[in-house]
Amino acid sequence: MIPLAQRVKLVADSITLAVSAKATALKKAGVDVVGFGAGEPDFDTPAFIKDAAKTALDKGVTKYTPTPCIPELKQAIADKFTRENGLPYKPENVTVGAGGKHCLYMAFMAVLDPGDEVLIPSPYWVSYPEQVKLAGGVPKIIPGDEKNGFKITPQQLEAAIGPRSKVLVINSPSNPGGHAYTPAELKALADVVVRHPNLTVFSDEIYEKLVYDGLRFVSFATLAPQLIDQTLTFNCHSKSFAMTGWRVGYIGGPKPVIDAINKLQSQMTSHITSFCQPAAAAALNDPRGAESIESMRQQFEKRGRHMHQRLSALQSVTCVKPQGAFYCFPNVSHYFGKNASGVKLTDAVTFAAALLEQSHVAVVPGNDSGFDTHVRLSFATSMEQIDKGLDRIADFLKKIG
Ligand SMILES: Cc1ncc(COP(=O)(O)O)c(C=O)c1O
Repeated sequence: MIPLAQRVKLVADSITLAVSAKATALKKAGVDVVGFGAGEPDFDTPAFIKDAAKTALDKGVTKYTPTPCIPELKQAIADKFTRENGLPYKPENVTVGAGGKHCLYMAFMAVLDPGDEVLIPSPYWVSYPEQVKLAGGVPKIIPGDEKNGFKITPQQLEAAIGPRSKVLVINSPSNPGGHAYTPAELKALADVVVRHPNLTVFSDEIYEKLVYDGLRFVSFATLAPQLIDQTLTFNCHSKSFAMTGWRVGYIGGPKPVIDAINKLQSQMTSHITSFCQPAAAAALNDPRGAESIESMRQQFEKRGRHMHQRLSALQSVTCVKPQGAFYCFPNVSHYFGKNASGVKLTDAVTFAAALLEQSHVAVVPGNDSGFDTHVRLSFATSMEQIDKGLDRIADFLKKIG
């Protein structure tokens, strides 16, 4: 037997994996499962982006590129940050990695020393605490309150900051909560951060384009002049351009950190796939990119409103109205301690498992996001599927006694 490294043990086994494995098995067996688990747009990548990749392949863009990418892509990202976010990053201030996930991981590896604390508001995206642990850091959760739309307050942030606090993760709009801070709420958090110049902010802005009810998105690093030196801004093509499988993510930040990340990447992956790079630049530079995002956003907004209305109408279920991303995160804890056809419901995992088993609806339990009272439903699916799934959930809840 090959002995494994200690670090593998640091990473928690995902408790939600068993539920998604079961959903896959049921579908394979021909069961009509309504899937609300998807963390990706159900739209295809816009044709002009695919064409740019095809052209690159035909032109022989199949060899190594510079680390982290070709100059055109760095320039396109720097221009995007300046034009759309008001962030005056130059090409030397940006780097590229294999999706938002890889970018976040490289950044934690670049800034954390053993024992450094990373402040993570909950509910949080599942990978933050695991990546922090792998990089030698210690996740410190700041609990978001459903009554406050899952948003943390400046007082909570101030109280959480201690001598070992190195990084604060801000994810707005958020997965899985669907909440998004208003510019004023974010500014109030920024006012706390500027009083702690040793704190670095990782602003995960990958859902920036998917905001609803007229909410205005602002980049964290623009909220006070000194924040440009204190913040790393994360983004990717996955959600905005429906490019999850392409694995394109990027970071903007102060040059010394970007150089450090490039140094790590040069010994790890070198760069992302060569022919994805010109296509990623085209997505940012071509006006058709913005048009396709807006048409997708409008559909998500309609679906999100509809799913939220239907969830809110369910007996004893509460649901924060999503302001961004494509998730509803309802509270189903009223049903804990009760039985669903003989199965005792104790938390979000048992709830999700019974719902899948008995009513063939797949949802993601919130346990891995720090909320074992909530389940996540993605509205990156059709209106028909949303109605069909919600009808089934309503029937399922009626049977719980
Ligand atoms: C909040 C958040 N950050 C980062 C990522 C990672 O994105 P990518 O698919 O580009 O790696 C995700 C993916 O679901 C996410 O929800």
